[in-house]
Amino acid sequence: MSTPLVLVHGGAGDVPEASRAAHAEGCRLAALAGGKILSTGGSVIDAVTAAVAVLEDNPAYNAGVGCALTRSGRVSLDTAIMCGKTRDAAGLAALDAFPNPVKIARKMLHAPEVLLVGQPASEWAERNGFNRVPEDELTTEAARLQWHRVVDQGESPNFAGGTVGAVARDADGNLAAATSTGGTMGKQSGRVGDSPLIGAGTYADEVCAVSATGVGEAFMRSVFAARLSDAVRFGKEPGEALQVMLERVRDFFDGVGGAILITPDSDPHAFWTTVGMSHGWWTPDENGKGI
Ligand code: GLY
Repeated sequence: MSTPLVLVHGGAGDVPEASRAAHAEGCRLAALAGGKILSTGGSVIDAVTAAVAVLEDNPAYNAGVGCALTRSGRVSLDTAIMCGKTRDAAGLAALDAFPNPVKIARKMLHAPEVLLVGQPASEWAERNGFNRVPEDELTTEAARLQWHRVVDQGESPNFAGGTVGAVARDADGNLAAATSTGGTMGKQSGRVGDSPLIGAGTYADEVCAVSATGVGEAFMRSVFAARLSDAVRFGKEPGEALQVMLERVRDFFDGVGGAILITPDSDPHAFWTTVGMSHGWWTPDENGKGI
């Protein structure tokens, strides 16, 4: 028997001191939402969906409400989900303004396609019961101000931080992972990061479940999540594997960030090469914790 667990992150970066408590509380509430699914008999896939949806609805993070904007000020969303037991996976990239992209990925989990992009992705979502909303509904004042600083004043876009993700485990050791993001602030239209790419920013199998955050291009070039899973599969201690892989992304692929990882029997693992990464977890004994 495994201990059921939901572990979430609210993005690696440098959250201002004044906002850190709110970011931590957002993670606690998201983990709790995932935990409610598990404790009432729901699946790990539904647990990560619920947890990520709570983070998407929270304007503090760069996903759903409050997401980063393209260079032309538009919403363009990336998300993915993966079931460790079946290895079913679904990603949508450069999606139009939908309130909870992770729910669309959840709906697509058993479709034959693994990745849909751009307008056809948005059309698939509409055909499957999801409604676009005006972009203003996902665009906060804070995001618009940051967009101005990056696009009009030349501030470094760096990466927006605040990409969100969750991993979950049930009592049988089944795993799942999900990630959602608005990408980098001021990004080129059509730019896709690591989050919706299975094996880069999101991955789950029977060995581990991973969700990453950070400079997407570096996580893509390093094929981060799949290589991390293989390191654990071939005997590396999970926490050490996570640290080594993130340092490798930083030192060999020129990108900082963070990630969360669990295995069928591990503690929750979180590591970052940035100033910080808000995260939180739920277990039956620990009813929601946020950092
Ligand atoms: N890691 C999220 C992104 O680069 O889009």
